[in-house]
Amino acid sequence: MINDIKKVLVSKDEIDLIAKRLGEQISVDYKDKNPLFIGLLKGAIPFMTDLLKNVDIKCTLEYMKVSSYDGTASTGNVVIKGEMPKIEGRHVVIVDDILETGRTLRAVRELLLSIGAKSVAICVLLDKPEGRVVEIEADYVGDLVPNEFVVGYGLDYNENYRNLPFIGILKEEVYSK
Ligand code: IMP
Ligand code: MG
Repeated sequence: MINDIKKVLVSKDEIDLIAKRLGEQISVDYKDKNPLFIGLLKGAIPFMTDLLKNVDIKCTLEYMKVSSYDGTASTGNVVIKGEMPKIEGRHVVIVDDILETGRTLRAVRELLLSIGAKSVAICVLLDKPEGRVVEIEADYVGDLVPNEFVVGYGLDYNENYRNLPFIGILKEEVYSK
């Protein structure tokens, strides 16, 4: 698996520091607000886990399954699968692996606001600003990445590489095969 990686972009130690910084910041910003964290499956799982270990206020968790990707290209169709969590009157923090085109997070944020969330913030491990197609910014960003296809720590290429403990750039020969 490691031989398919061209370059490590964000190391495990750097990810730990990001989770600590963002978790502590959210704990300050949401003190007494009992936030509801919603992780977007499956990519957000490792980051959600590490982020929440650094959140020291009362909060609750949910997950939603959303997808827009096929291989290495965003299809633009955002599909929400399964049951919606109860979010009425809640301060929601959506947690995801990466903000790229912005379609997924914008669609989810609008949906949550339309069904009664009191506020909706976005927390992403990575931001790939050059890939943006719709206007949206995250409230909490771990790190910026260049316009390359990255994998690891939740991010996949056709469901593989999610278990890498760091973020790396995938060798082009892996997906051009
Ligand atoms: P957006 O709607 O284009 O912002 O897409 C966000 C979703 O696309 C993320 O949650 C990922 O699942 C996927 N994605 C975007 N960029 C990458 C990448 O470089 N590698 C792997 N998945 C990505
Ligand atoms: Mg994905």
